[in-house]
Amino acid sequence: MQAKEKIILALDVDHQEKALDLVSELKDHVGMFKVGMELYYSTGPEIVNRINELGGKVFVDLKLHDIPNTTGGAGRSLTRLNCAMFNVHAAGGFEMMQRTKADSVDEAVKRGFAPPILLAVTVLTSIAQQQLHEEMMVKDLAVADLVVKWALLAQKAGLDGVVSSPQEIELIRAACGPDFIIVTPGIRPAWSEAGDQKRITTPRQALDKGTDYMVIGRPITKADDRKAAALKIIEELER
Ligand code: C5P
Repeated sequence: MQAKEKIILALDVDHQEKALDLVSELKDHVGMFKVGMELYYSTGPEIVNRINELGGKVFVDLKLHDIPNTTGGAGRSLTRLNCAMFNVHAAGGFEMMQRTKADSVDEAVKRGFAPPILLAVTVLTSIAQQQLHEEMMVKDLAVADLVVKWALLAQKAGLDGVVSSPQEIELIRAACGPDFIIVTPGIRPAWSEAGDQKRITTPRQALDKGTDYMVIGRPITKADDRKAAALKIIEELER
């Protein structure tokens, strides 16, 4: 995979026009575009079609979590949009993950599309150890242990990979093997501002730890010269 293909640009904006301007500007410098809840719920599914029309691949980051029949149906809808990647919460359970994958693949085959990559979100990085114990009632596991257990469960359910914090890449890689896809946010090049991200790694460090894709937003979107920022990251990955 070329270095630029590893970069997923987070389109954290609330307007279709702003998002499509970023896609037009950066589609030759990144591999994929992430449409999260803010943009998707502002524009509707049409945003995926529009990005595809401009030649961009789309990761729809809606983190599905519901009963298997419902997430299966949602997975079919997202697959019909011809997105390249979408995700579910591992907390929804084995059956939910398995059904979503099966329905998505079935729909892709019917439409003649490549099945989208289906990822699991394990423990949100906003959840600390104390919350896991006191609010989610998981008393006997450290966050990292639960992350690995859920990554293994997702793999068993037939999912293609997980979204993971940079801290957990090596543990997941060791447990799930070389073919399991790891997608990592919290990436900050040494020359960019951390902003609200706390546990960060540089693109190069994430690659060395074994990530497959990195989600990067503000270091590119807020740069004075966005293309130059993307090129600088590509250079760092290729070095
Ligand atoms: O601008 P920045 O590079 O921080 O954007 C990172 C993107 O990855 C955002 O869309 C953010 O919501 C997402 N993300 C994250 N940390 C997680 C999960 C997702 O930063 N644990």
